Amino acid sequence: MIKAFRGELLHFLADPAKGSLEQSYQYFTDGLLVIKDGLVASVGEASTLAATLEPDVEIKHYPQGLIIPGFIDTHVHYPQTEMIASYGEQLLEWLDNYTFPAEREFCNFEHGQRVAQFFIEQLLEAGTTTALVFGTVHKESVDAFFSVAQQHKLRMICGKVLMDQNCPDYLQDSAESGYNDSKALIEKWHQVDRLQYAITPRFAPTCSTEQLQKAGQLLAEYPSVYLHTHLSENKDEIAWVKQLFPNTDGYLDVYDQSQLLGKRSVFAHGVHLHDSECQRLGETHSSIAFCPSSNLFLGSGLFNLKQAQQFDITVGVGSDIGAGTTFSMLSTLNEGYKTQQLRGDKLSPFQSFYLATLGGAKALDLEGTIGNFTTGAEADFIVLDYHATPLMSRRMEHCKTLTEKLFILSMLGDERHVLATYIMGECVFNTQDKT
Ligand code: GUN
Ligand code: ZN
Repeated sequence: MIKAFRGELLHFLADPAKGSLEQSYQYFTDGLLVIKDGLVASVGEASTLAATLEPDVEIKHYPQGLIIPGFIDTHVHYPQTEMIASYGEQLLEWLDNYTFPAEREFCNFEHGQRVAQFFIEQLLEAGTTTALVFGTVHKESVDAFFSVAQQHKLRMICGKVLMDQNCPDYLQDSAESGYNDSKALIEKWHQVDRLQYAITPRFAPTCSTEQLQKAGQLLAEYPSVYLHTHLSENKDEIAWVKQLFPNTDGYLDVYDQSQLLGKRSVFAHGVHLHDSECQRLGETHSSIAFCPSSNLFLGSGLFNLKQAQQFDITVGVGSDIGAGTTFSMLSTLNEGYKTQQLRGDKLSPFQSFYLATLGGAKALDLEGTIGNFTTGAEADFIVLDYHATPLMSRRMEHCKTLTEKLFILSMLGDERHVLATYIMGECVFNTQDKT
């Protein structure tokens, strides 16, 4: 089954921060995206490509939108949806006061399904089509999430949290049960349809060395699964890790000693990293999820994107709901820009849109599968609307270049500017659905 979508169209082929900016993306003011059986067949100028299609192929035209690949959220907690925007604390107190009590409810499969359904609707409305997602310690939370994601035919990665120390009894597993539950979930869900599993130690403070070692063992047994955790987010957290793991060279080394680094390992935050840690992340092809909304909300600090780039670390963007305060990747990019301004650094609009699409795909080792319109990629894409709000519409009238348009989208844009979301070439959300 062939479908075609016409409109202004942008996607990335490479990181604009490396090499030539012009060669890092393809942009068509009047483009055509051709999809066959849910996969990208071709992309190009509408005027030339349309002539190659059979006359019966229907072309859906978006005359005032920008067609781009779906956003990729490389770090988010679905069980924290209902406690987003909880007041007044930094990381460790915030976890104790708000997060852990909310996660307790996810021992119940039906509760998990209800929240997962709402969470996925929020993602799709915000134009996010793939995410790397934390569950809770309960295996039911992952069953609930995957069952809903599967119904929506989404490419999603999720895992059961491992935490066997320094946490409330009601959220504690053991090295043994965490290993067994994770293994059972991998066997049940990993590579089923578009779903993939991530081994998910919460963070070093809540994991014993034995538990981290077992996580490493599991990763060695299943090399195609992911490793997803937090790293160097908050100064008190880092001091605590130093105290808990005196025989290591620092926070990253706690994970490194258990063989948790690699191409499918994603570390959220990395706000306070030493050069030696960046070096190690780069050489092991590990990734960082840059979560600016969360880092500002919890007062964690300002991520050093320049340092990550210097050490060739793959970076994606994460909303980190519920420490982040928005599902929208556009709003998250807005916060990202401001974090770099406060550092005296620049986040260019091209770099922003790259990070939220192809950068995310690379961080998840899914380049070629999602993140751009390369032939054979899964056709998850969105249409952004320059005219969804009067302010953006008016501002766009005074803008001439693509650079300006992208910058305005990332400064003034949010869920309201997502006109439609497509999964494998099927429309799953459009603004008419909104009441
Ligand atoms: N570190 C350990 N757990 C969490 C969490 O749930 N959210 C954030 N932002 N950081 C964490
Ligand atoms: Zn997080």
